Amino acid sequence: MTLKSPQNKFWDRVVQNAQIGHAVTDKQPFFSLAPMEAVTDTIFRRVVAQAGAPDVYYTEFTNASSMVHPQAKFSVQGRLAVAEHEQQPVAQIWGSHPEEIAGAAKKLPSMGYQAVDINMGCPDSSVIKNNAGSALIRTPDLASEIVAAAKLSGLPVSVKTRLGFYKPEEFREWLPIILKQNVAVLTVHLRSRKEMSKAPAHEEYIDEILAMRDAIAPQTLIQINGDIKTRSAGLQLVKRHSGIDGIMIGRGIFENPYAFEKQERQHTLSESIALLNLQLDLFDEVNETITPKHFEALKRYFKIYLRGFAHASALRQMLMETHTTQEVRAILSQELPKVYAAVAHDKHVYRDNQAASDDMAAANAAKLESSLAQ
Ligand SMILES: Cc1cc2nc3c(=O)[nH]c(=O)nc-3n(C[C@H](O)[C@H](O)[C@H](O)COP(=O)(O)O)c2cc1C
Repeated sequence: MTLKSPQNKFWDRVVQNAQIGHAVTDKQPFFSLAPMEAVTDTIFRRVVAQAGAPDVYYTEFTNASSMVHPQAKFSVQGRLAVAEHEQQPVAQIWGSHPEEIAGAAKKLPSMGYQAVDINMGCPDSSVIKNNAGSALIRTPDLASEIVAAAKLSGLPVSVKTRLGFYKPEEFREWLPIILKQNVAVLTVHLRSRKEMSKAPAHEEYIDEILAMRDAIAPQTLIQINGDIKTRSAGLQLVKRHSGIDGIMIGRGIFENPYAFEKQERQHTLSESIALLNLQLDLFDEVNETITPKHFEALKRYFKIYLRGFAHASALRQMLMETHTTQEVRAILSQELPKVYAAVAHDKHVYRDNQAASDDMAAANAAKLESSLAQ
């Protein structure tokens, strides 16, 4: 599919790159790493790029109000940082004041951003209190104004939202409103706000959503999100519902950092350790050269890499007592020879790593609550 507006070169390229190596008749979806607060910063995006790159990355969501009023309480520091050789992500912003959205979006091109995404799905009560995130589902006129405001930046505008606020069936009234705004991409997390991330994603509505798009805004790309764990699961979903343009994966990356790899295979423990070491190195680099990072937050990632082999839990427990990346490295070099000796085939199985995913989501909810309450 080719988008008509010259604004949309960014997404045209994404669509075309995803198609490389495949016949036109064999339409391939693009894959993206979901925006995740306190997760998808420049460090983790580069680790995922190394493990198996998606076609698109998003930043953590960033408060438009803080971008235009630098003294505001919800700091933007580091959220929009992009490393020199990193693939430019889409900037995700949130807010409920069109003038702030316009002001924030206008700053993005000079920072190197080529696309902006508006968060209309966050279920967190502290964001909803600000009439933002999924609260915009209940104020569709304001949501439309916000899209129009973001377009003043000249960047292609996309929206990430949920099916509805209370009930998933609200999508029948809600999604046409956004489609009429002629957005470049509409990402639909297949749940209502009330369902949070607990109810299973509503695959049963995908075909209806695609038919709406075809009728109202055929040029808008539809990206589907919710409970899709890997590239192969995404490809299967697209087979069941042809017309999906993109697949967004969130928590699946905690269960399997290789979620985007094109040829699925089993990975060795030493490959996992290499990813952990990369994360440690990038943490130090960003901490020293871009923005101060909290070491405690780094600990949440250990479960992603150190799981599924003998002594994994004991090793993680030792690492939980550390205070610096140097201490982590010291423990790894002391303990890993014992681990390798105990791991007969150096196999590391990521499947069913639900615990890592649950931990990350819970830690994020707590952090968001406290940072917005300050
Ligand atoms: C730790 C965490 C942080 C999140 N932060 C954001 C965010 O900043 N912006 C956003 O649009 N969605 C955010 N989400 C929602 C995800 O982008 C995604 O919509 C959701 O996890 C469902 O997809 P999944 O089933 O593939 O995880 C977050 C989810 C998690 C688990």
